[in-house]
Amino acid sequence: MNFFDTIDMAPPDPILGLNTAFKEDPRSNKVNLSIGAYKTDDLQPLVLTAVRKAEQQILSQGMDKEYLSQDGNPEYVNRSIKLVFGAEQDNIFGAQAPGGTAGVRLAAEFLAQIGSSVIYIPDPTWANHNQVFARAGLKAELYPYYDAERREFTKSGMVEAIKSIPSGTPILLHACCHNPTGLDPTPADWKEISTAIKSQELLPVFDFAYQGFGRGIDEDATAVRHFLADGHQMLVANSYSKNFGLYGERIGGFYVVASDGEIAERVKSQVMRIIRANYSNPPLHGSRIIAAVLASDALRQEWESELAVMRKRISGMRKALAEGLNAGGSSVDFSFMYKQNGMFSYSGLSKEAVGRLRDEFAIYMPANGRLNVAGLSPKNLDYVVEAIIAVL
Ligand SMILES: Cc1ncc(COP(=O)(O)O)c(C=O)c1O
Repeated sequence: MNFFDTIDMAPPDPILGLNTAFKEDPRSNKVNLSIGAYKTDDLQPLVLTAVRKAEQQILSQGMDKEYLSQDGNPEYVNRSIKLVFGAEQDNIFGAQAPGGTAGVRLAAEFLAQIGSSVIYIPDPTWANHNQVFARAGLKAELYPYYDAERREFTKSGMVEAIKSIPSGTPILLHACCHNPTGLDPTPADWKEISTAIKSQELLPVFDFAYQGFGRGIDEDATAVRHFLADGHQMLVANSYSKNFGLYGERIGGFYVVASDGEIAERVKSQVMRIIRANYSNPPLHGSRIIAAVLASDALRQEWESELAVMRKRISGMRKALAEGLNAGGSSVDFSFMYKQNGMFSYSGLSKEAVGRLRDEFAIYMPANGRLNVAGLSPKNLDYVVEAIIAVL
């Protein structure tokens, strides 16, 4: 018997598939603006000095390689809770997870377990959200987030839509640096959104993958901390892939804010079972690096300044791109890019333009025109500007 002969070929992942195509492209002038990974001015991956120093420290201590418990390294989890929420609280349960994706997946499985069958996600959102929730059995419904005509976040569209979401439904929110639009609600907008979600009795689910890439570590936590102060029960998934440059170490977390400590304990017991049945327990190394950096004043300071350098380089490149396009006589006014935050810029380029950029200029970005600003540098900026103007 042939068990697998009826299996169809799955389509390539919209982002990871592009990365593979980029690697295989023989053209020497190729530019990768697809996957969300930071690159230096020399277009090289960056390992932070604070991370290297923490690794040396870990190595010199000759640590063991025993299993962690299902919820991970306690020192890492406690420090993560402080970083995300501002302080530890009895009613917050946290678990280490293998990356932000696994944090979102744990949220999805936990939601399925408590009886959710639908989650509202922004239109547009990170390409993976849909399938992560679908694989856990949740149908993703869209709420409006982006006004394509004005190229702005639509607060009124979002708040209006919230009013008709059935009570008890989870709603996914990007805590900062919305992927793919780069457009975030203001602190005042978040207050309004929090009030609307509260009065509709929805369950906020934050995806927090870019803390420190927008305006700063604490500034980017405004939404999560405001919701906490507003007394929401909520779920949060976070990632250290970007802000610590630990992409391949797979390190992030999943957090539940319950109404009190006793409920948080029961939640914990259930999340531990979900983890046990998935990957049993998370990997050690990334959690040790982050715990070591956050525990040392000197390393933390070094990390914060390295993060600020990444943030500034990205915003400088975004500005240079918009200025270059406008100065180059583009038919579109790209000043809207100035309002965007974080790693990405939603360029507004059509699917056809994106296809031409790849075919004719070896410039890679997903079909929705979301470009990774961190993949731009003084080395390729002029080339990218000229190519975009040519395909407009
Ligand atoms: C919005 C969002 N959530 C989650 C993730 C996943 O992060 P990780 O690479 O840590 O799994 C990403 C990464 O691109 C993202 O953009």
